Amino acid sequence: MKEERSEFSYRVYDDISELNDQDARLLKEAREVTKEAYAPYSNFRVGAVAVLENGEKVTGTNQENASFPVGICAERVLLGTVATLHPQVPIDTIALSYKSDRQENDHPISPCGMCRQALVEYETRVNKPIRLILSGQKGKVFVIETASMLLPLAFTNKELK
Ligand code: THU
Repeated sequence: MKEERSEFSYRVYDDISELNDQDARLLKEAREVTKEAYAPYSNFRVGAVAVLENGEKVTGTNQENASFPVGICAERVLLGTVATLHPQVPIDTIALSYKSDRQENDHPISPCGMCRQALVEYETRVNKPIRLILSGQKGKVFVIETASMLLPLAFTNKELK
């Protein structure tokens, strides 16, 4: 028997002012686009903005439903839109933010398990890591170099050959 270890590191910034201009602009857009979320049930509005390898930007927000499981997270709305509007174009970076009237919105959130799986699929599909910038409306910012770091031992298409 031997024990394997899986570790990942990420950068923590005290606030948006520590980011370079391009990352700060992307995060501002993610904070702003939370307004377009449809979240009448949770009141937790999530906004995501992707910048693609070709410089295009695409946004996504969570879209809830009276039949709760039908609702879809901002990240998966975003990935579906990117894949449809810009087929096979790699995503360079995604900024993710949220806004809720019920809390301070002052710390980063990270993608749910289902979205982590979807992010890994997109990375595999176009063969490029997706960088993540995670933050609330204010406060700390996490930067993660590769979305797949959030899903160690991921199940991927390798198993389905
Ligand atoms: N949500 C997202 O859009 N992305 C995440 O990473 C976490 C959760 C949404 C789903 C639901 O509409 C609301 O946030 C509360 O869970």
